[in-house]
Amino acid sequence: MASLIERTYHSTPAAYALPNGVLEHRRLETQHECLLKLMNGRIIHASLPPTITRALDIGCGTGPVAHSLATARPTTTVYGLDLSPVPPLRTQPPNLEFIQGDFKELVRPDGTSSDQLPDPRLAPASFDLVFSRLLIFGITEWQRYIDAVAALLAPGGHAELHDACHPDPLPDLQPDTAADPTRYNPPWTRALNAAMRAKAMDPACGANIATYMRRAGLIDVHARRYAWPHDVWEGLPAEAEMLGRYTEEVRAEFYGRVIRRLGAELEEVGELESGNEGGKRVWFWLWVVVGRKPGGMGG
Ligand SMILES: C[S@@+](CC[C@H](N)C(=O)[O-])C[C@H]1O[C@@H](n2cnc3c(N)ncnc32)[C@H](O)[C@@H]1O
Repeated sequence: MASLIERTYHSTPAAYALPNGVLEHRRLETQHECLLKLMNGRIIHASLPPTITRALDIGCGTGPVAHSLATARPTTTVYGLDLSPVPPLRTQPPNLEFIQGDFKELVRPDGTSSDQLPDPRLAPASFDLVFSRLLIFGITEWQRYIDAVAALLAPGGHAELHDACHPDPLPDLQPDTAADPTRYNPPWTRALNAAMRAKAMDPACGANIATYMRRAGLIDVHARRYAWPHDVWEGLPAEAEMLGRYTEEVRAEFYGRVIRRLGAELEEVGELESGNEGGKRVWFWLWVVVGRKPGGMGG
């Protein structure tokens, strides 16, 4: 199979481990289409009021979520923030702006005066919605990240975070999986998770987001999870099939490169090729967690 993932990366001190070129843009766009299907055409799960003033997508990638928010809500100013430039894949509506930079540098705690803000568009307590998706290979301090997200929210504003929980091969290290005899965690997930932990990343971040949100003072926190299949099998829900096929296609290349990029060795690269042999099913959870800042109309 031709290489799907090229080798251009951001040139900042940020921890983010994935590339940022044309092939990665194509991968992210395909992945977005698959996730849209998985979620039955509705990415945003928060019950937002009919009108909101400002929304932010942190780590927006190619910008599909920011773009659809801006298109669906023409009176909302939507910002997409990313380390790397957002490619011009779509016609940009006038209420959508992209900001290039590291959220760690740009987002300041509540109480920062406006003349100390690196970018006044990212003022504390100014957003009705802060969204992020799949920052698992970019965040090293999840509680700090979610504290920063909470600080960006206006009273009553919603945070909605979608992120993964990659299970460990050892059941006692899995925070969120009930025993399932058909589920198989391939040994390479051990290499991936060890490499992530060595870089202070959390392979189970998705399962921990709700706790971090509550600690950050958000209320009405609720979570649901979607199974992200590594390939397809009989009985897989129709809405997950496209994602399973896509993941099967990119899995070996993607995880092989991530593991190496995180500085680890893979003993058995061939292992990455194997799927649900012998009826074993490989999937991980994608968590969708919504929380609200106290105050505003919702009290
Ligand atoms: C896996 S991609 C997901 C993109 C998009 N959220 C999606 O789901 O299609 C993660 C994105 O987060 C961005 N990112 C990672 N660390 C970041 C940081 N510290 N500040 C801003 N953006 C960051 C990356 O550049 C990348 O575009």
